[in-house]
Amino acid sequence: MATAAKTNGYAPIQIGLHWLIAALVIFQLVFGQSMQTAIHAAQDGTALGVTDAILATGHYWVGSSILVLAILRLVIRLRSGVPAPSEGNKILALAGRATHWLFYVLLVVAPVSGLLTFYGNPGFASVHRLTRSAFIVLIALHAVAALFHHFVLRDGTLKRMLVPAKPSDR
Ligand code: HEM
Ligand code: HEM
Repeated sequence: MATAAKTNGYAPIQIGLHWLIAALVIFQLVFGQSMQTAIHAAQDGTALGVTDAILATGHYWVGSSILVLAILRLVIRLRSGVPAPSEGNKILALAGRATHWLFYVLLVVAPVSGLLTFYGNPGFASVHRLTRSAFIVLIALHAVAALFHHFVLRDGTLKRMLVPAKPSDR
C-alpha cells in the first residue's frame, strides 16, 4: 500500500482520532434512521417529533465532522505512517490492510453520499444506505480481529491502539 511503515507505534493523535471517529460512526449507525424520518416528513409535509428533529440535526453535524476528521487522519497517516502488521501470516496482514483502507473509503463515501442526498440528489440515498451495511460488516470483522489479536495471538496489536508509542519509537 501507499504508506510503508515508518513508525513502531501510533501517536496520541492517531489513537485519539481512531476512537473518536469510531464512537461518532457508531452514533451515526444507531441514530441514522431519524434523518430518514426527517427527510420523509419534509417530503410529505407531516410534523416531525422533537427527538427526531434533534437527532437528524445531530446526524448532519456528526456526519460532516466525521468527513473532516477522516481527512485529517488520512493526512497524518500519509505523513507519519502506521506500524507494520504484527502477524507473520501474509494473507492475514493483507486482510488487515485491506480492511483499514476500506474503512477510509467508507469514511469519505458515507458523508459525501449523505450530503449529496440531503442537498437534493435522492439517487445517492441507495449509496448511503449501502455504506451503512458495509460499515456494520467491516466493524464486526475488525473488532473480532482486534479481540483475536488480543486474547489468542497476544501480540500487542490492541494495546498499541490504546497506548501511544514513545516519541523515540515514532
Ligand atoms: C460516516 C457518516 C455517516 C453514516 C455512518 C451515516 C449513516 C446513516 C444511516 C445508518 C442512515 C439510515 C439509513 C437507513 O436506515 O436505511 C442514514 C440516513 C441518512 N443520512 Fe447519513 N450517515 C452519515 C453521514 C451523513 C451526512 C454527513 C449527511 C448529510 C446531511 C447524511 C444524510 C443522510 C440522509 C439524507 C439520510 C436519509 C437517506 C434516506 O432517505 O434513505 N448522512 N445515514
Ligand atoms: C467505526 C469503528 C471503527 C473504525 C472506522 C476503525 C478504523 C480503523 C482504521 C482505519 C485502522 C487503521 C489504522 C489507522 O489508519 O490509524 C484501525 C486500526 C485499529 N483498530 Fe479500529 N476502527 C473502528 C473500531 C474499532 C474497534 C471497536 C476496535 C476494538 C475492538 C478497534 C481496534 C483497532 C486496532 C487494535 C487497530 C490497530 C491495528 C494495527 O495496528 O494493525 N477498532 N481501525
